[in-house]
Amino acid sequence: MTARIIDGKAIAADVRHKVAGEVRRLATQHGVTPGLAVVVVGHNPASESYVRSKAAATVETGMRSFDHRLPETASQDELLALVKKLNADPTVHGILVQLPLPKQIDAQLVLDAIEPAKDVDGFHPVNAGRFVSGLPALAPCTPLGCIILAKTVHASLAGLEAVVIGRSNIVGKPLAQLLLVEDATVTITHSKTRDLPAVCRRADLLVAALGQPEVVRKDWIKPGATVIDVGINRVPAADGKSKLVGDVNFAEASQVAGAITPVPGGVGPMTIACLMVNTVRAACAIHGLPAPAV
Ligand code: GUN
Repeated sequence: MTARIIDGKAIAADVRHKVAGEVRRLATQHGVTPGLAVVVVGHNPASESYVRSKAAATVETGMRSFDHRLPETASQDELLALVKKLNADPTVHGILVQLPLPKQIDAQLVLDAIEPAKDVDGFHPVNAGRFVSGLPALAPCTPLGCIILAKTVHASLAGLEAVVIGRSNIVGKPLAQLLLVEDATVTITHSKTRDLPAVCRRADLLVAALGQPEVVRKDWIKPGATVIDVGINRVPAADGKSKLVGDVNFAEASQVAGAITPVPGGVGPMTIACLMVNTVRAACAIHGLPAPAV
């Protein structure tokens, strides 16, 4: 079997197109233009590339993009003061503080300082708590993207055996919650799971988010399963340069899976598209308008 490749780039472009339509509607009907503020501290090449893509998507969808850069040596108080200013700024509907942060800064303290209504990353404990309680909340972007990708393969996720590898607050745990909302039967696995390949082989939908290159092999996958690869790992390439690979061994897995996301071009573009979705959702909620149709 050769798996169908799930084209995250094309699906993300479609999501951004829908967001752009909602942004136009908000502007013409309500005079509201959603604004997203991204805060970067220091110079991390991976962060720089993410932030460029986020700013481009924000502008493409017709929203306002605000970039804030602080030096590597910035203090926690400086960053907290900026977050406070953005919380109070009526032109800003979404605030994203790019992680990782330099070591003099307590990241959790900063994330906790973001106004929950503007927390487009969905990392604030208020959003995490509301979300698991089934209340309206901003959900983290990467899990939202995974669900959209899975639904391009399965009209319904109800009753599917879904196995998530990884229990992070950013991906594994919120993704399991979203899968539950979709009525999937969910297993979260982690470093202490016994016989991980056997558990993964039960999955109709397997999501790899463990952050280790090409760990998921051919014999971990049930024939015909859908495989979503959240990993983005930089590894040495044969030509002496480096390349990006996922947490799944793509060459092997694509021989067994029914559908699979590539790396790059799978989950990555969806995270940014879902950040746009969350920003337009935040803007609607802040202005007391109905949720957007995206
Ligand atoms: N660093 C890498 N990905 C992300 C993300 O989705 N949100 C934030 N805040 N930082 C990141």
